Amino acid sequence: MKFIKRSHIVFQSIPVILILMLLSQCGLQDRRGREDKISVSDREIYRKVDSLMALMTLEEKIGQMSQRFVPGVTNDLLASIRNGRVGSLLNGLSNFYGPEERNMFQRAAVEGSRLGIPLIFGHDVIHGFRTIFPVSLAQSCTWSPGMVEQASVIAAREASASGVDWAFAPMIDVSKDPRWGRIAECYGEDPFLNAVFGAAVVKGFQGSDVSRTDKLVACLKHFIGYGAAMGGRDYQYTDIPDIDMHEVYMVPYKAGVEAGALTVMSAFNDINGIPATANEKLVRETLKDQWGFRGFVVSDWDAVIQLIDHGIAKDDEQAAIKTVRAGVDMEMKSDAFLQLPGALDEGKISEDIIDDAVRRILYVKFRKGLFEHPYTDTTRIRTDLLTPENRQFARKVARASMVLLKNEHHILPLSGKNRSVAVVGPFAKESELMGWWKSTGKTSDVVTPFNGMKENAPAGLTVTDRIGSTTDLIIACVGEGRDLFGENHSRSNLRLPGNQEDFLSSLRKWNKPVVTVVFNGRPLDLTGVTGNSEACLLAWHPGTEAGNALADVLYGNYNPSGKLTTSFPRSVGQIPVYYNHRNSGRPDKNKYVDETSEPLFPFGFGLSYTTFAYDSLSLSSDLIQPGDSLVVSALVSNTGNTAGNEIVQLYIRDLYGSTTRPVKELKGFRKIFLQPGESAKVSFIVGSEDLTVPDKNFHPVTEKGTFDVWVGPNSAEGLIEDFELTDGR
Ligand code: BGC
Repeated sequence: MKFIKRSHIVFQSIPVILILMLLSQCGLQDRRGREDKISVSDREIYRKVDSLMALMTLEEKIGQMSQRFVPGVTNDLLASIRNGRVGSLLNGLSNFYGPEERNMFQRAAVEGSRLGIPLIFGHDVIHGFRTIFPVSLAQSCTWSPGMVEQASVIAAREASASGVDWAFAPMIDVSKDPRWGRIAECYGEDPFLNAVFGAAVVKGFQGSDVSRTDKLVACLKHFIGYGAAMGGRDYQYTDIPDIDMHEVYMVPYKAGVEAGALTVMSAFNDINGIPATANEKLVRETLKDQWGFRGFVVSDWDAVIQLIDHGIAKDDEQAAIKTVRAGVDMEMKSDAFLQLPGALDEGKISEDIIDDAVRRILYVKFRKGLFEHPYTDTTRIRTDLLTPENRQFARKVARASMVLLKNEHHILPLSGKNRSVAVVGPFAKESELMGWWKSTGKTSDVVTPFNGMKENAPAGLTVTDRIGSTTDLIIACVGEGRDLFGENHSRSNLRLPGNQEDFLSSLRKWNKPVVTVVFNGRPLDLTGVTGNSEACLLAWHPGTEAGNALADVLYGNYNPSGKLTTSFPRSVGQIPVYYNHRNSGRPDKNKYVDETSEPLFPFGFGLSYTTFAYDSLSLSSDLIQPGDSLVVSALVSNTGNTAGNEIVQLYIRDLYGSTTRPVKELKGFRKIFLQPGESAKVSFIVGSEDLTVPDKNFHPVTEKGTFDVWVGPNSAEGLIEDFELTDGR
């Protein structure tokens, strides 16, 4: 095959008006035979994309596939942009540049480059931009997709006002390993929950019209299996059986694609011998061809050149070739893609691959509306960030994500009996409570636990930072600093760091009740905490409104309703411990001699200031046919004295079939609010599609058999019934 070295063709600068005329004339080429699925507006976009691509040199195409990291403005960078050698800029955490700088870079692209193709600006908007929400793992403990969506709407509004077009989120890597520091970024150990929350973030960021200037392009990351890092060590390889790949790790990504996410980031990890970034079977065949993903795939940071360290490429050129063949369209930070023109000349790759990548990137840029409004309005940054409304919503999310783990003798909420409360411990006056990806969040904006408790104290209650003889109750604030979790922060010991457990036991000498508040980013081994506290509240890294949200919960202005989305282990030796494991042939024997196999706190667990009773589980039928559904209902009553939310959970188990199945699988949940004494009938529809198992090609099929179904307050409790699926295979 002969390849023309397009870089040798010299183009004159083409006026924008001419480009627009050309764009409106050329026809749509749909190379994938997917016309029926393409909307009218997308056809129009593809028409423009193809017209534009007809004008592009190879170097300009590779430019679109290149993302540069910007720690600052340099003449070299501006020159590269003007030469059409850059398609995207990554705005980093330190030295975040604002809308003016963005517009300056954008001007270089739009007015200074030959074709005027706008840049797309990406940033890690993970759990807030300036108003920081709780870390994602905490947000999932709200079991409120609506809240998570609204938090993303706010984050998108703030980030877009600062010149960001594209958020590197949601992170939907299911993880069962709390040693892995990035577990804080995902939505827990359950694939269904990661799917639900991932889709909520996509909706919040992109909305129904992503071209709106207050919306962001979402990015599902990190495709795929990153949460299974061996030994919980970040970046380690993963060994993932096909069944788990399909039933666990792919589930949220498929849901994210269906929710319309426009980009995906390929992961750092090696999967069964092929790194994700070079994994043609997973990226090109599964994500793009099978699932019909039409956006583009960006590599993770330097992940292309890291193929050399993985041992799958001998140099940059080979790394670039393997990456683009696999279906990764844009290279983040490193510049191995500069080798692609040479590789093309030598016939090592085909131009079709490059064209497919560029077409996808331009498609997303058009969808984002960057051609129509390339510049950011520089005034919004003064009005849209950290507004009282944004803070108020962050406070709501933070308190709803806190999980009450222990509350002996109803010591919480603090009552009139407590005249003097001491808020002490290493986290009492901590303001660095925004997690690892705090974006542009500032510690000076954060309400510390001590300040929150003091400023919100009811009349007659004194809050001090010292324990004394008049102290009635101690609030001990302990936890993990942000530098102990997050990327590249794995731990082998999951107890409270340092001497914090000693600190807790030393409080015993005061002979006062102790309420321990834990500020954490991952599931911890809390055996040394619960034994030394009458009550224990998991506050996570709650973000900007930390102290206010804490006060809402401890003073009883908000009845805690958060429930865990990861199992909390009793010891590191139990890991991985998760609720949806398979059974084994000797379920009563496969235990440790020195430890139970049950976690300290199970998935779905969380207490309230009130109590809820579950009763009258009923099924609309005890038979279900393929294509059919049945209704599962239970009566849930608030049997205490306080109004509150309850998260009602539905689990099923397939008792026998052609493959072994998990002992429980979450299939639905409802968050309901009940007044004291009030009851509600909570119903779930279970469709036969919820009961499928994978066939040998991992296609979902129904198999006849018996299913257990539970409705309950967590994965370890609940009412149980069973039903039959008839006429399956
Ligand atoms: C992380 C990604 C992140 C990227 C850009 C990488 O190190 O793995 O999650 O989006 O950096 O900051």
